[in-house]
Formats: sequence, C-alpha cells, structure tokens
Amino acid sequence: DGAHGGTRRTRNIAERLEELNKDVVVFWGSQSGTAEGFANRLSRELHQRLGLDAMAADLSDFEPETIAQIPRSKTAILILSTYGEGDPSDNATQFWEWLIKAVEGKNSDSATSALLGSLKYAAFGLGNSDYQYYNRVVDVVDDAFVACGAERLLPTGQADDSHGATEEDFLEWKDSLFAFFRDHFGIQEREPKYEPTVDVVEDDSLQQQDLYDGEPVHPPEGSGFKQVNSPVKALKIRNAKELFASSSGRNCLHMDLDITDHPQLTYKTGDHLAVWPMNPNQEVDRLLRVLGLTSRRQSPVIVRALDPEAVKVKVPTPTSIEALLRYYLEICAAVPRDVVRGLAEFAPTPAARDFLHILGKDKDSYGSFLSHTHINLGKLLELATKGDSTAVWSNLPLSYLVDALPRTQPRFYSISSSSIISPRAPAITALVSSTPLTPPDASIPGLTTNYLLALSDYLPEAIKTANTPSPMLTYNLPGPSDALSGGLVYGHIRRSKFKLPMQASCPLIMIAAGTGLAPFRAFISERARLQSIGKKSGKILLFFGCRNPEEDFIYSDELAQLEEGDLKGTLRVVTAFSRVQGSPKLYVQDKVRELGSEVVEMLTQESASMYICGRASMAREVGKAVGDLVMDRRKDAGESSFGENQTKQWREGMKRTRKW
Ligand code: 2AM
Repeated sequence: DGAHGGTRRTRNIAERLEELNKDVVVFWGSQSGTAEGFANRLSRELHQRLGLDAMAADLSDFEPETIAQIPRSKTAILILSTYGEGDPSDNATQFWEWLIKAVEGKNSDSATSALLGSLKYAAFGLGNSDYQYYNRVVDVVDDAFVACGAERLLPTGQADDSHGATEEDFLEWKDSLFAFFRDHFGIQEREPKYEPTVDVVEDDSLQQQDLYDGEPVHPPEGSGFKQVNSPVKALKIRNAKELFASSSGRNCLHMDLDITDHPQLTYKTGDHLAVWPMNPNQEVDRLLRVLGLTSRRQSPVIVRALDPEAVKVKVPTPTSIEALLRYYLEICAAVPRDVVRGLAEFAPTPAARDFLHILGKDKDSYGSFLSHTHINLGKLLELATKGDSTAVWSNLPLSYLVDALPRTQPRFYSISSSSIISPRAPAITALVSSTPLTPPDASIPGLTTNYLLALSDYLPEAIKTANTPSPMLTYNLPGPSDALSGGLVYGHIRRSKFKLPMQASCPLIMIAAGTGLAPFRAFISERARLQSIGKKSGKILLFFGCRNPEEDFIYSDELAQLEEGDLKGTLRVVTAFSRVQGSPKLYVQDKVRELGSEVVEMLTQESASMYICGRASMAREVGKAVGDLVMDRRKDAGESSFGENQTKQWREGMKRTRKW
C-alpha cells in the first residue's frame, strides 16, 4: 500500500504524525494479531474517550530510527508481543535489531543516551509465563528506551497468556493509561461511544466474480513479514491419513500438501506451514441470523477506511457479507469484556442492553463466564435476546464487526517432512483439537484442525479408521467451480530457526510429547537419507511421550523401522507413557532424568544439539530437568559453587550457540 494516491507514503513516523496531525502513535509488534488488535482498539478509544488524535502503526511500516524524531508534544505507545524463545514478532524485527544496535553502541558513543531524549512513551507487552523468556521483548525495549533517554510515562504493563488473562491484563493497563492522560493532561473523559473507522457499503452493481471470496487477507506489506513468510497460495492436498483415532474421540491427521505449482514456495526441514482457516457454517449462519442478514448474505460490499491516510483496511475488498464472516473475521473468538459493554449501544431491546451491562461489568464474573462458555459474538448476541424471537440486531453495523473482530490469522504447523526427501510435498501432523471447558462435557472445537479433517473428506483415498469422528464443525467446502475446489487450502511457508546442525555427525537429543514429534520425524528421516548417501549420522537420542502405546504413539512403525534398519545403532527411541493402566504416569522429563548421565555426557562432552518440541509447560519442565542434571554433574565433579546462576549461564550459552 506504499503507493497511496500515486505518491509513496513516508516511512518517517515523525513526518507521518505531523502530516496527519496525530497526537499519539500506537505501535504494534504482533505475531498472531492480538497486539495488533489491542493497538487498533486503543487508538480508537483514545479518540472516543479522550478526544486525542491517535493512529495505530505497524512497526515495519516505519524506519525505526525516525522514532527518535518524534517531538515532545506527541506520545508513543508500544504494544509488543514476545514470541518463541524471547523473540520479537516478524513485523518488529527491524525495529528490534535497530534498538539492540543503538544500545550496544552506547558504550562507544555517548550520544546514545540522548538518542531518544525527546520521546515520551508508554508500553505494554504480551507474553506467556509458561515460556522462559516471558515478556522479554517489552522488557528489553523498555530498558533500551530508558537507556536512550526516553521518558516512560507510566509503569509498563504485561499480559500473561498462560492462564488466558491477556485481555484482562490489557484492560487493567489501559485503565492506568487513561487515568494518566486524564490527570496529567487534564483531559475530561467522555462517555465512550462507537466511532467507526471504516464504512461497509453494500453495492449491488458489483459482479460476483469481482469479489474477494476467501483469498486470504493480503499479508502485511512490511519487510519483516516478507523476510520470513512466503506468499500465500491455494495448495493441493496430496493425501491425508489418520495417524490414530481413539475411542475417546481424539484423532490425529497426517497430510501431505503439494507445492509443485508454486515455484515461489520452498521450504527447509524445520520450517512451518501456515494454514489459513475458514469459519464453520454453524457460526457463519448464526451470526447472519442474529444480525438479520441471512437474506442478504451474498450482497457485495465495499469496505472503506473513513480516514484512508491513517487506517489500513484489514480485510480484502470488495467482498460479500458472507465472505467477510466466513473467511476474513475471527467470528469464533471469545468476546472481550469491553466489546460486551460496547455492544450494549446497539441492543434491540432494553432487556438485552441490561444483560450486556451486567455481564460486562465485573472482571472476575465475566472471566468465570468465559471459562464456561468461550462465548463468541454470534452466541452472545443470541443469548442477550434469548426468549425474544422477534429481536434482531439490525442496529449493529457491519463496520462494528470489522472494527471489533480480529481479522482471520493463519495457524502454524511444524512441517513433519524432510525437504531433502520431499522438497515439493511438505507434510503436517495435527491433533484434531478440542479444548475442554468447565463443565467438562463442554469444549471448544479447534477451528483449523476440524477444517483440515473436513478437507480430508475430499480425498477418496484418505485413510480413515472405524473410530474417525465426523468433524465437530461443518465447513462450506467449495464446489467444483470455486477457487478452492478439490480440497485446496490456502497456505504459505514460514521460515523457522528450528534447524538441524550443519554437520550430520553432530549428535542430537530430541525431546517431544504428542504432535511435538512432527519436526523430529523430519529430522530423523533426513538423517537416515544423509546416511544413505554416505554422510554418517551422529548418535540420535529421541525421547517421546504420549498417553499409551496402543492409542497415540504416532509414527511408531516408521521409528521402529529406522531404529532397527537404516539408523541401527545410531537412533535410540525412549518412550514415556502417561496413561497406561496399572503403570505409574511417566513424562519425558522423568525419562530424561532417568538417563541423566547419558544426556549430560552427550551435551557436555559430545557437543550434542538438543531440541524440545511440545507444549510450553512440558518444555519448561524438561528444561529444568536438564539444568538440574548439569548442575548436579558439575557439583559431583567438584565444582561446589556451580549453582542456579551458573546453570542459567550455561543454558543461555547453549541457546546462544544454537545448541539448545
Ligand atoms: P497426560 O496423560 O498427562 O495428558 C502428549 O500429550 C503427552 O504429553 C501425554 O502423554 C501427556 O500426558 C503429556 N504431558 C502433558 N503435560 C505434560 C508436561 N507438563 N510435561 C510432560 N508431558 C506432559
């Protein structure tokens, strides 16, 4: 979108703020869209409630050094997520690298301490305390800003997603931000009222074939995104196979996709495949119904920014009402509490308005309500007018949905094939998920995994078992004339840092639970292939945990074949089963401890590389086990002072050199 109106937009944020006459810029660094959504909401609310002119800004749209030119009369707000091993989001990479360089330069160049001397800022971080580098990005940025002379206006907030508290943590920090603006700038707060940033106009003169109908939102233009993400394409599914389907209703899919038709898509072992999902029929139909739009579902619409200079439209346009709800907006997401309150303005009846006021009033009771229901927008609107079959939310404008709902994001899967064996057929391994709620009989069906399961129905040769459940959701799978006919799925490749060592001789320790095995299947098969062409593989120790060998030990045949065949004497698979009747619960970290001396020997003497893949809590516990083992070993060897600190340093050294 750089060529707006024929002239290139400036990448200088100070110039941009001047041009648009904005008081506040809300920068976002976002990987899955949450921080981006917060930034958009915040900039709208600053205007609605305080009358401040604010703009949200993708960090990758601006040259980071121009942040230093923002004058004292303006305020910068940063909403930054931490991802993976304490990494910034793709769109914040350039900013991050610039800032680190600026701070490192500090020692040699005293000017650094005044670099951001005129900047006033506030910051909020998004992270998950299950991960070791909890909120590292906002911490580092905060320290660096202060070191560069910037003025922090209020304590930096942090959201912790480990218990799903991100939304409430944000609301709390936002309150403190508004209080600050009120007190320090003497701004009177106004009753919040919805002010649209976009206009959604129905236009029947548009032809169906000119409408976007499922093609993914154009990925962010920023350089950060393009550095690691390929373009998005409609990918063929070569085949799909059920790896297991248990009587308890869990099942797991293996899919080989086909990128032969897309030369721009290439992958390397360890990369991720992004899948762009669609929303299930139930939820699309529900929302159309409560909004009174069922008969107009096919209507073409144009989505226009009211202030095109400041706001990028987040959905492709022109499109149709139905496509907006099916493909482009996350209509299945749980409704944030301040949206509940905001919706009251559009309630069709006084009863519905009161219901929303009460529901959105209290943090704790809404939190508990959400944990039982995970209520999405359509269900909430239905519930608010329950018992009143004539009530239709016809006052709720479509622009509100575009403003309030996140745009659909791709979901990432670790590729489970090796790029030297199947360069044009990346595989994914997905547990068709269902997140339990309290009461235990309710659950949230996984949106994308159920979609993949439904798609596999397209393949007559798909291997299914007697236990294969029907997808919990039904999807509008395309007909023969549609862009996705024949079971295509929109996807792209994302480059990752999860890579095998260059040397095939380097020993490997891999630790996985459940579908965390996916990238290791790729690693191991790659090592077997390399060995077959004369590159002898170093020792491979794989720890794998699942419930029960009969139920969910995925790829067990392949692994056994390699262990006994091509990688005999090289590969050793150590299993931990957590739910075998009559046996104690065993986790991979228990097995790592059991084989402690071998693990430590490999890590410290044989220079093995270690990889962990699975849920964050498992990775943390495995990490702790390995740290304890190394500490004990050093102490036994006479280094009595080797304590927690030294262990931490050792671990960080391992990570820095990419051995962990
Ligand atoms: P469970 O029987 O307790 O669910 C794949 O999901 C495997 O990972 C299962 O065996 C599961 O055990 C196990 N698992 C769950 N939480 C874990 C944790 N914190 N550490 C290690 N393994 C875990």
